[in-house]
Formats: sequence, C-alpha cells, structure tokens
Amino acid sequence: MFIPKNLSVNEKNHLVIGGCDTVDLAKEYGTPLYVMDEEHIRTAMRAYKNSLNSFYSGNGLILYASKALSTMYMYKIASEEGLGADVVSGGELYTALKSGFDSEKIYFHGNNKTYDELEFAIGENVGRIVADNARELDIVNEICEKKGKTAKVLFRIKPGVDAHTHEFISTGQIDSKFGVAIENGEAFEIVKYAKSLKNLEIAGLHCHIGSQIFSLEPFKLAAKIMIEFAEKIKNELGVEISELNLGGGFGIKYIESDTPPEYEKYIEEVSKVIKTECAERNIKMPFILMEPGRSLVGDAGITLYTAGTVKDIKNVRKYVSVDGGMGDNPRYILYGAEYDAAIANRANETADEVVTICGKCCESGDIIIKDAKMPKINSGDIVAVMSTGAYNYSMASNYNRLCRPAMVFVKNGKAKKIIVFKYKPKKGSKTKQGHRQPYTKVKIEKINA
Ligand code: LLP
Repeated sequence: MFIPKNLSVNEKNHLVIGGCDTVDLAKEYGTPLYVMDEEHIRTAMRAYKNSLNSFYSGNGLILYASKALSTMYMYKIASEEGLGADVVSGGELYTALKSGFDSEKIYFHGNNKTYDELEFAIGENVGRIVADNARELDIVNEICEKKGKTAKVLFRIKPGVDAHTHEFISTGQIDSKFGVAIENGEAFEIVKYAKSLKNLEIAGLHCHIGSQIFSLEPFKLAAKIMIEFAEKIKNELGVEISELNLGGGFGIKYIESDTPPEYEKYIEEVSKVIKTECAERNIKMPFILMEPGRSLVGDAGITLYTAGTVKDIKNVRKYVSVDGGMGDNPRYILYGAEYDAAIANRANETADEVVTICGKCCESGDIIIKDAKMPKINSGDIVAVMSTGAYNYSMASNYNRLCRPAMVFVKNGKAKKIIVFKYKPKKGSKTKQGHRQPYTKVKIEKINA
C-alpha cells in the first residue's frame, strides 16, 4: 500500500492530509470529495523554480500546465509562486484571467484553437501563442491585423522522440495530431511561412513529448533535437530563437513500484544538454520554459469515498463499490491507470485482502483500482485513493447524472472550499445546507474558486 509522504496517521488511526483529519473532512463535506494539499503543491512549484535557478541561472520560467487541474485557486497559487501558465482552451484562459493571472505569463496551446478563442487570447494580450499549424498562423495574423497588434508565437514541434509511455499520452512522434514534424520538413516550412506574416513575432520553439514519463533520456534527446533544429533555422532562414519551451510530462508515483526521477535531476540534465549543444552550435542560450502539470498537483491530491455495497463472489472476485467512480476518476477506464488506496478511518491496518474497488456507474469498466491490496473494507468505511490531484477533476464528467465531487484545499489544519455543492432542502427537511443527503436533496455543483 503506497501512502504519499505528505500524508500521516493520527492518534485516532485516521489518515491526515494538510493537518486535516480525512474522516472529519468526509463528514463535513460529504463524499466523494477531492482533497488537495496546498503546501505540497507550493513546495513542488518551488522545487522546480529553485532547480531552474541552480542549473540554468534562472534564465527561464516554469509554466503550470493547468489542464491538470484548472480552478481559479490553482491559478492564484501558481501566480503567487511566480509561475506562468499553460492554457489550452478559451475556458482555461477565462478561468486564469478571472483569477487575476498576468496575461503576459500565459502560453496558449492547442491543436485546433478556434477563431473565437484566438480573438479572445489576442484581445487579452496573452504572452505567447504556441502555434500548432499554418492555418492557425493565418488566423492569428488576420486577428492581429484587425486589432493593430503583434503576436509573439512559438511553434509546436514534433521532435520525433518516443517517450515510452501510454500510447494515448505520447505526443512527440510524427504520427500525432499535435504540431509539425521535423523529419518531414513541415517544421522548417512553418517557420519559413511565419517569417512572411507581418503581424507575428517569432519567439521560439516548443515541444512536448508525452506525459507520465520516468526516463530522463527522451527529454534529453528532445532538447538536443530542438537545439539542432534551432541551428538549422538560424543558418538557413536567419531566424534566431530566444525561447525554448520543452513542455511537461514528468511522471509521479501512483503505486509503490513507480520510480519517477526527481525534477531537480531532470532540470540539471536537460540544462547540461542545452548548454553543451548551444556552445557547440554557436546558438545563444535560450530562455527556457517547462510545463509541468501532473508533477505539481498529482500526488498532492486524494479522493475520499464512502464504501457501500461489498460483494464477495466466491472464487471469482470481491468488489467494493464506492459512491463515485469513473465520473470523478476516468483514468482507469481510459488508460488502465493504477492507484493505491487506504481506509481513512482505519489507516494503519494491515492490508491482507485483495479487492476491486469500483464505482457506481453503469459500466463494468467503472473501476478505480483492480485487485487492490487492502485491509478488510466494510460498508461505511471511508476509502482514500492516493495521487488523484491531476487529470481527475479536470477530466471528470457527470455520467449517469452523478455530480462531480466537491473539492477542498487543505493547509495547516484548515480546509478551503473550492468546489462545493448547494443543496436545495426538501420542504420541511431540518437538515442544514451543506450536509449531504443526496436522496432527499437536489445537489447542484458550484464552482467557487
Ligand atoms: N504541455 C503540453 C503541451 C501538454 O500537452 C501537457 C499535457 C503538459 C504540458 C503537461 O503534462 P504533464 O506534466 O501533466 O504530464 N489526461 C492524461 C494526461 C494528458 C496530458 C496532456 N498534455 C492523464 O490523465 O494521464
């Protein structure tokens, strides 16, 4: 059973996160509930920043890849910690701006940005547009012409690197919908084309090879290939890049056997490659950007559920159903993702059973953890699933008309409501608002922060 280092167990044998007893949190806010450890997020952000200072003289910026968890409060934390943000839709951009995020530090991504989204982004003076294709360059150029502006652009390049991760989250290879490839000349052509558009300023290059990557080698290789490409466009097109964005993708620990490298190591190694390659090729050392998402929020989050039906099918499988499922965590059904869990109200008990923790949706694949090693779970126990801070809430759905869970950020023993529910009490009901009784109340999701 893997329990992240930021969690502990108190004298009641309850799991504790951010100084808060998880059993109390479940009582107060109901389950399912996403719980995020704020200090853990801030520490991870500082670790990235400090490494950039140590190994690359601070000549860069860490962007929070906000697709991992996009709420106003997350943008506020990123901004307070001095990070920029990567947004990938008008919705993420809107949320960032609404939180007061500095638009100059926003990088706008996407393989099919709409005209409206680009008009919104340019109107709000986002720092950079990471251009995916030539059609998009035309749109950006046209909007800038209309508005009398110049857009700073980076090009999304496919370096042709295999990231050794799940096929669905691999993006650096030529057979990908994202960006333009170096190997077939498309990347060169797009830079050449951009040079001919007068309302664009070429700021640099971007690549992102995939997600949940444990090996440093593909990152180092991608950095090398990008500098080689920078040399080519300098020599053949006279275009000198000032920025190199190396994307995100650093893996985290979901289960005991996961062995992600330290981000410090990643930044140290990649910085070395950039320095060596730039020196050899006579390229000015670029301002570098990195876009971690998962590794900033993933293991800072847990999801609390209440166990309901326990079904022991003799000689087949024991199922424990919880009050959420693929709606709040679609990562098993999408990627076969693995998780670990604990019983929040009996946190130190020995795990001596193998059970499948499943949800309440009408799908047999609605599984949170297949064959989890757990202490005996009884109906009514609070089950805490670890490392659910990234791509859980952001990919959640209301399938089967279930509400997405509420979310609290915890810090120093206090919980801050980020996404809450409003209950419309049934006539005559004495239950106070906020107390969860889904069968007697109408639950309405409300995003606060
Ligand atoms: N930059 C770009 C351009 C990206 O496309 C992504 C993630 C990131 C940065 C951040 O990558 P990270 O550091 O979080 O690995 N839903 C999937 C992950 C999809 C990742 C999409 N792009 C999952 O749940 O595993």
